[in-house]
Amino acid sequence: MALFQKKNEPAQVEADLTRLPRHIAIIMDGNGRWARKRGLPRTAGHAAGAETFRAIATYCKDIGIDYLTVYAFSTENWKRPSAEVSSIMGLLKKYLLEAIGQMERDRVKMEFFGDLSPLSPELRELCERTREISRHYEGCQVNVCLNYGGRDELIRAAQAYAQDCIEGRADPNHLSPERFGGYLFSKGVPDPDLVIRPSGELRLSNFLLWQSAYAEFYFTDVLWPDFSKEELHRAIAAYQGRNRRFGGV
Ligand code: FPP
Repeated sequence: MALFQKKNEPAQVEADLTRLPRHIAIIMDGNGRWARKRGLPRTAGHAAGAETFRAIATYCKDIGIDYLTVYAFSTENWKRPSAEVSSIMGLLKKYLLEAIGQMERDRVKMEFFGDLSPLSPELRELCERTREISRHYEGCQVNVCLNYGGRDELIRAAQAYAQDCIEGRADPNHLSPERFGGYLFSKGVPDPDLVIRPSGELRLSNFLLWQSAYAEFYFTDVLWPDFSKEELHRAIAAYQGRNRRFGGV
């Protein structure tokens, strides 16, 4: 069930697939609770969540979504038990290895938002390899947020911008949102139109703080491993019923 359904927003499942949001961003939340409900270890929830990611990413590509951004691991997630962190990293590795095998067929472009330097050399190399192989693909672009935090991204951007000012490459009198956006991990990617958070939590948790300024939000209490095409249709249908004004009237 969708949380915070707006008055007059139909609980419809039918999305108009000819009028899709260009960029969908998802906080893949609820893996741990999904596992607990079944008496399974949290790592089993992440494994199920990775399968859901695979299915939803494939579906987004098939219906013609241009950009899909997912929150896979935050700058704060290092606080989790090391076995859980290793399990998420292992799932990412498995996914990227499989993606490499299918890239030529799927033409999905892979990008990573976040500081990859603390990752294992092997995982970092896989991220770079998938990014490099798919650089020229024109299909759906999947952005995996990995060791990503919105505040961390903004601080890094501010530092890089300040350095450019010091070295004469930028002029603080001419800073605009567009120029500043060029310092973010998401450089060149349009802002998300629709941000989805499953699992009943009603917060952004440091995800795409800058980029989601005008995004439409869809919250549902479905846990991420149970998130389905139908649920995605519900989110898209809710988005299509909204009146986006971008500060205008
Ligand atoms: C949040 O649920 C989920 C994560 C921190 C990890 C997400 C990772 C995956 C879905 C697997 C790897 C990803 C890819 C792209 C292959 P939670 O653990 O906080 O759930 P809880 O709130 O119920 O405890």
